Amino acid sequence: MPINPEEIRKDFPIFKTLMNGKPLVYLDSAATSQKPKKVIAAVSSYYKKYNANIHRGVYKISEEATEKYEKSKKKIASLINASGLEEIIYTRNTTESINLIALTWADKNLKGGDHVLISELEHHSNIVPWILLSKKKGIILDYIKLNSEKTDLDYSSFEEQMKKSPKLVSISHCSNVLGTIIDVKRIAKRAHEAGAVVLVDAAQTVPHMEVDVKDLDCDFMAFSSHKMLGPSGIGILYGKRHLLEAMPPFLGGGDMILSVQHYDFTPNDLPWKFEAGTSNIEGGIGFGAAVDYLKKIGMKNVREHEETLTKYALEKLEDLDKVSVFGYGSDSLPRRSGTISFDIEGIHPHDVAEIFNSEGIAVRAGHHCAMPLVVEVLNKPAVTRMSFYIYNTTTDVDKAVEAIKKTQKIFHK
Ligand code: ALA
Repeated sequence: MPINPEEIRKDFPIFKTLMNGKPLVYLDSAATSQKPKKVIAAVSSYYKKYNANIHRGVYKISEEATEKYEKSKKKIASLINASGLEEIIYTRNTTESINLIALTWADKNLKGGDHVLISELEHHSNIVPWILLSKKKGIILDYIKLNSEKTDLDYSSFEEQMKKSPKLVSISHCSNVLGTIIDVKRIAKRAHEAGAVVLVDAAQTVPHMEVDVKDLDCDFMAFSSHKMLGPSGIGILYGKRHLLEAMPPFLGGGDMILSVQHYDFTPNDLPWKFEAGTSNIEGGIGFGAAVDYLKKIGMKNVREHEETLTKYALEKLEDLDKVSVFGYGSDSLPRRSGTISFDIEGIHPHDVAEIFNSEGIAVRAGHHCAMPLVVEVLNKPAVTRMSFYIYNTTTDVDKAVEAIKKTQKIFHK
């Protein structure tokens, strides 16, 4: 069923906010999403009605908090078709999930001279952990190049890199700059044939479309609650059970142990083995409410709405003089998410974002935590990015297009 964004907006209190005296037009959901009343209520109700630590108390409110927190893992397992909550580990964010793999799985299984393969369109969170590991252990970091149109990965470059027999292929499911949806199923298949383990950064896909870890056949997947209507400070690491079981723990402390002696300890079962200390309880509970909200809408409908909006926006942008869009155009929608980066000839993106701001429109300008892509491959100091979600409308797009025209009027006079 098509989404009615006008109805959805009623669930989001933020849209009563004026920004610079104008109704808020929020086009920065790739950075973080807005939160519906149900999520805000779930967090607030925990604090008001059953605030207690989890996994510890035998009293009723602690049991209630534990149950709601753990239930959210079952919900997310079902959303991405994982086998159960044992495969869902809560971290702080996507970045921490990837670092967890670098500091546990990779630290244990990789040695100096082993290759790790990433791509030129990764977020810093899927670059820096591997640079750190190369400095620490001498692993060799390789990059899949972008194609000459700079829209997608160059699959011949991927094949070339596979000749080096990487032990790990760690790849973004969707670029947070280009909006390109990467064929990770194809990459995982080829990587597995060569004996590599596959980690997918799905921060920009799980919130926006159906993602099935069994269909993609990835070994690990990382994403964040705050980009999918949930609270900040809670990230997800999915892992195949046999891999997680063989990994050493991440951080040491309470909750991640079954028993501790003076000089040794026995790690806890999955998934708690990787969750040391008091968890982000309200985050987990709020995240459960966010998953319920998205499931009710249906991820297919979320994707359909964003595809319609993206087509509408791309066609408008393609008609504008001296405006260029990065990544695929309106003729390649299935390969694209609702994230659109663009350039207005001769105008710095920070100036563009400033004019948008004065019009009440939130967009992001900068290198988008993807400096190798933006600065080295696209050869830009920064780009302006708008990104859509379930609450955006064609009116939002029209306002953005008007803001571009206004920016041009001011700077091109
Ligand atoms: N990774 C987020 C973005 O792309 C913060 O904006």
